[in-house]
Formats: sequence, structure tokens, C-alpha cells
Amino acid sequence: MSVLVTGGAGFIGSHTCVELLNAGYDIVVIDNLCNSKQESLNRVEKITGKKLKFIECDIRDRAGLDKVFAENNIDAVIHFAGLKAVGESCVKPLEYYENNIGGTVILCEAMRDAGVKKIVFSSSATVYGEKNVSPLREDMPEGQTTNPYGTTKLYIERILKDTYAADNDWSVCLLRYFNPIGAHKSGTIGEDPKGIPNNLAPYILQVAIGKRDHLSVFGDDYDTPDGTGVRDYIHVVDLALGHVCAVKKILGEKGCFTYNLGTGIGYSVMDVLHSFEKACGKPIKYEIAPRRPGDIATCYSDPSKAKAELGWVAERGLDEMCEDSWRWQSMNPDGYC
Ligand code: NAD
Ligand code: WQD
Repeated sequence: MSVLVTGGAGFIGSHTCVELLNAGYDIVVIDNLCNSKQESLNRVEKITGKKLKFIECDIRDRAGLDKVFAENNIDAVIHFAGLKAVGESCVKPLEYYENNIGGTVILCEAMRDAGVKKIVFSSSATVYGEKNVSPLREDMPEGQTTNPYGTTKLYIERILKDTYAADNDWSVCLLRYFNPIGAHKSGTIGEDPKGIPNNLAPYILQVAIGKRDHLSVFGDDYDTPDGTGVRDYIHVVDLALGHVCAVKKILGEKGCFTYNLGTGIGYSVMDVLHSFEKACGKPIKYEIAPRRPGDIATCYSDPSKAKAELGWVAERGLDEMCEDSWRWQSMNPDGYC
């Protein structure tokens, strides 16, 4: 079986490529490398001892996609390609709508015309909005998104649901990720953010490695056990394994399925900081700062649907996530460079 992985050179995509190859799938990766380096895929090949096919291609390039489908016998698509920075999406909403939504429509048109109607999509817990109370379940109504990035995820989910509703020959799997962190055990692939990291774990890592002075903890007056924000951090390898289960599901069954991929456990900013301190064996400087606009107090999943229907459970805990992230960061202080 052959899987086309869009955005496969990125953080989650590269880890998923490892697990797909380990599971015996052939893979073709397309990526325009706007937020990644091809080196990640060289390392995927080293880790697995297997080859993959990389084609530098933008998902908005219809002719390029047609060629990819014509020249490769693709059975299913995992669609990671997209822009993902929440803050940037508020400054450049049109770029986000055009790349993420426009790109997905073009990809799906190319898939339909090539007769490949099986897709796993990278959605996000952000589609639950601010009002639903954790643990978040897939049968809760989607909420109001608070930024254009989140809105692209919500709209793409709708576009894929409508595509299935109009043609039951499709098989669609919407995976709502919580907060992916961690890295492959080898320390050779991991998250390689450009510029100042927006997310907690990469920021802490840059403080730990000496690139930034301290972490700003955004708010310590939330209604949570220690006052700092609580999230459902999930090891990227567990997340990757969830995609292998999802691909198996859509290869075997038609339908439109939605699953949370999380651990079901909420950890606070201070829990994460302390776990990183253990991993790197030194204190990490922090200062309490005002709340970040748009943040909520608590967000964690109910992961029981993925367990029941995909047979998938996240197995790696917070300490392992931080140890593996630290190994990646200390072995690659400048990322893939
Ligand atoms: P990433 O930026 O590391 O990977 C995305 C990849 O897509 C990059 O390699 C980038 O070069 C590529 N890309 C972007 N636009 C493209 C285009 N038009 N054509 C071809 N390639 C393109 O991000 P990631 O963290 O690995 O996220 C993967 C997916 O998961 C994204 O869709 C993201 O929105 C989603 N997601 C991520 C998180 C998270 O916290 N990391 C959480 C929920 C959902
Ligand atoms: C986690 C916690 C912050 C940075 C985002 C997107 C979401 C999804 C995952 C893609 C919060 C606190 C953070 C810092 C801090 N992405 N924090 N200091 O906001 O839960 O989710 O990434 O779909 O859509 O919104 O993740 O890592 O930014 O923040 O105190 O420098 O860490 O306030 O409580 P978030 P995050």
C-alpha cells in the first residue's frame, strides 16, 4: 500500500513517515519546504533503513499534483501541509485561507480526479472553541474559533465532511490533535521552529539551550491547580502511530470519522517546565507574565473514541516527551541547519 504524505518534511509529518515505513507502507512525500528542510526526510530514511520518494511540490499546484498521482500508485493521502502559526494567521489571514483552505480544495479535486478518495486530515483541538468544557469529546459542537488559523481547520473539516456527504465513496478521517511535543528517540528528528517559537515546549528548549533568557509564563491566575494554563501534551511518536491506525481504518472502511488524539491528561505550564528541568538537569529561568490573548485555562481530550474504534492509546508520558525533546535539542542546537 502506498500513502501520499503532504507536508511530510515537517515536525509531525516526518515522525509519521518513520512509523508508516516501520509499518510496511510505501510513501511518497510532497512538501514545498516553506517551513521545513529536506534533511528531515534523509534522517527518516536513516532511522528506518528504508527509502521514501520525495517530490518538492506545493499542494496548490494542480498540474504538479496530477503528475504525482499519475506517476505513483497512491492508495491514500495523509494531509499535513499547511501554515500553523496562530499569531501570524492574525496578521496574514488571506495567506492562511489561501494556503490551507485553497490548497486543500485543490488537493481534494486532484484526488477525486485521480480516483484516490481516502484522506486523513490534521485537524486540531482548536475547533472545539472556548466554550466546551474539558474533557473534550468528538460529539461536542464545534466552537467559535479565535484566530484565522483555527478557522482554516474548522472550514477544512466542513469541506471534507461535505465531500463525503456528496460522495459516499470517500473515506475521510479528521484527527484533532491536542498539543504535540517530544521527538523521535534517536534524537535525529524533531521540531525545528523558525524564529521565535510560539509554543511552550520549543520556547522552553531554547531557554534551556541558552538561546533565550527566560520563559514568560502567560498567566498564573487561571482557575487551575497552580494557576497556569493546562493542556493535553502528546508525544509526537504516539501521534504518528495514531496516523498509522487512521490510515488502516480508511483503507478498510468508507465513511467520515473524527477522532481526538490526546492523552486525556492535563498538565500545567509549571508541570511542563519542571519536567524539562528534570530532563536537562538544570533550572530553567521563568517570569510570570500577563495572560496571552485568546488562551483558555484548560484544554484536554477524552481520547476514548480513538481507543474504541482505532485501537489507539497514547503510551508515552510527560517526562518521556521532555527527555526526547531535550535529546533532539541538545544533539541539534541549530535544528536541521
Ligand atoms: P510543520 O510546519 O512542521 O509541517 C507542515 C509542513 O507543510 C511543512 O513541512 C511545510 O513546509 C509544509 N507546507 C505548508 N504549506 C504547504 C503547501 N502549500 N504545499 C506543500 N507543503 C506545504 O507543522 P506540524 O507541526 O508538523 O503540523 C502538521 C499539521 O498538523 C499542520 O496542518 C498543522 O496545522 C497541524 N497541527 C499541528 C499542531 C501542532 O501543535 N504542531 C496541532 C494541531 C494541528
Ligand atoms: C501552551 C500553554 C500558554 C508559550 C497552540 C494552538 C493550537 C495547536 C497547538 C495547532 C498555554 C503557555 C506558551 C509561552 C506560556 N496548534 N505558554 N509561555 O496555545 O495550547 O495551542 O498549539 O493546531 O491550535 O493554539 O499551545 O504551546 O502555545 O501554549 O506560558 O512562551 O503554554 O499560555 O497555557 P496552545 P502553546
